[in-house]
Amino acid sequence: MPTAVITGANRGLGLEFARQLLSREWRVHALNRGVAPALADLPGADRLVVHRGDLADPAELRRLSGELSATRIDLLLNNAGIMKTDTPRHPDHQTQGLHDFSRDEWRAVFEINLFSPAQLIALLRPRLAAGARVVTLSSAMAGIADNEYGGWYAYRASKAAVNSLMKSVALELGDAVIAVALHPGWVRTDMGGPDADLDAATAVAGMLQVIDDLTPADSGAFIGYDGSRAAY
Ligand SMILES: NC(=O)c1ccc[n+]([C@@H]2O[C@H](COP(=O)([O-])OP(=O)(O)OC[C@H]3O[C@@H](n4cnc5c(N)ncnc54)[C@H](OP(=O)(O)O)[C@@H]3O)[C@@H](O)[C@H]2O)c1
Repeated sequence: MPTAVITGANRGLGLEFARQLLSREWRVHALNRGVAPALADLPGADRLVVHRGDLADPAELRRLSGELSATRIDLLLNNAGIMKTDTPRHPDHQTQGLHDFSRDEWRAVFEINLFSPAQLIALLRPRLAAGARVVTLSSAMAGIADNEYGGWYAYRASKAAVNSLMKSVALELGDAVIAVALHPGWVRTDMGGPDADLDAATAVAGMLQVIDDLTPADSGAFIGYDGSRAAY
């Protein structure tokens, strides 16, 4: 039975990844900050183990990876992420621009979006099965060529760095794993908001199809939920 580790599986895309993988008879380890009643209600929850901790805390990540010391991982899904903190903003300025630059906010965004995936990959590397998929959720907002409206400096920069991270992981781990960054599309979650294009079920079904279809030649790539190559 294949095994996935998913960060931030208590809501949004992470919860949907857990739902769809459990329905495919996978075993799922969910790494979540808080309680996750929605997870416990999923069909197949007898194949689910929830590990609780703040993933932005390096000591917590070390403790959580210790809880996985006997686990062979076929899919590591770095999903947890934030766009912003609750830094006060002028109502005309909602885009995390230069006008409200906050080093603390940048640090918080980078902690969970970049440092945690990097540390978790390093910690769990010995637990990865041969040919395991190592996936980190990026965003089309990482794209530099496609940046048409600016703003969201910390979020964009953190996801651009994630794309670089996954390329380096692919190079370092070579044929042992397939490592990619995925763009889920614009999805109706707490982060994506109600006006987004896709529901979570469609986005996650697309990403799981992409993951199924990965070959070693894809390692290091930045790929959209529909299989398209996302722009750097
Ligand atoms: N939705 C979109 O349109 C979209 C587009 C592009 C990329 N993405 C990316 O897709 C991923 C999932 O997004 P989403 O839309 O599902 O977001 P979401 O609905 O806001 O969910 C975010 C998840 O991350 C978890 N998380 C955040 N900080 C954490 C921490 N310090 N420790 C543990 N868990 C933490 C949250 O847990 P808590 O409940 O504890 O906060 C939650 O489970 C993110 O990486 C995001 O950047 C989303």
